[in-house]
Amino acid sequence: MFQPVKIAPSILSANFLDLGADIALIERAGAAFVHIDVMDGHFVPNLTMGVPLLKQLKPATSLVCDVHLMIDNPLVELPWFIDAGADLLNVHVEALSEADLVRAIAQIHEAGLMAAAALKPKTPPSALAPVIADLDMALVMSVEPGFSGQSYMAGSETKVAEVAAMARAAGNEAMLIQVDGGIGTATAPLVAAAGADVLVCGNAVFAAPDPAEALAAVRDAADAARLAVLDACA
Ligand code: DX5
Ligand code: ZN
Repeated sequence: MFQPVKIAPSILSANFLDLGADIALIERAGAAFVHIDVMDGHFVPNLTMGVPLLKQLKPATSLVCDVHLMIDNPLVELPWFIDAGADLLNVHVEALSEADLVRAIAQIHEAGLMAAAALKPKTPPSALAPVIADLDMALVMSVEPGFSGQSYMAGSETKVAEVAAMARAAGNEAMLIQVDGGIGTATAPLVAAAGADVLVCGNAVFAAPDPAEALAAVRDAADAARLAVLDACA
């Protein structure tokens, strides 16, 4: 059955001096998630936003608060983001031992939130194996994490297809696949056809002359690709 893709605009590319207006804009434009890029200056070479911002954002939006934790010590900081109102917490597998990855996903679920695990571009899908049966979402990074506005790494769609196959094999058909980095009208169809369900868009939305129109264009391009795959299988 056809399922439209969900768009998750990354507020790393928004106007921090008028963030409320940008949130209202993406809500009206039909975004499903608001993607919050938390960077600690250690796991990635950049420092961005964190708990104080999430605390203010959560009561001000109806969007799913999707928190992408690019930090060294997620097990220590997960409770902070749970208390601050995250709906979905996403930890990087590279920041955790196998046992701690399992602990982190369990801790997120115990708090009643959606749990996701993220892969940097060079990390193989097999790193998700200890938790794939339990994940609500897996994130395939299509740029090295750290900055918005980078170019999509060619071939990332192959990894999306591999992660989709792994989830099916693990009996987790409901698991969403998110792709993050360099997603726009040219790249959204590639990842959507490979099985991506949630597309993070930073610059493609917020740096566009008409962000609402840009968001719709990415969604339409992705949905057309998903429909074409369904038609080809019918
Ligand atoms: C990169 C972040 C991304 C980034 C996306 O480390 O995780 O979410 O903001 O920005 P674009 O869509 O511009 O690549
Ligand atoms: Zn992100």
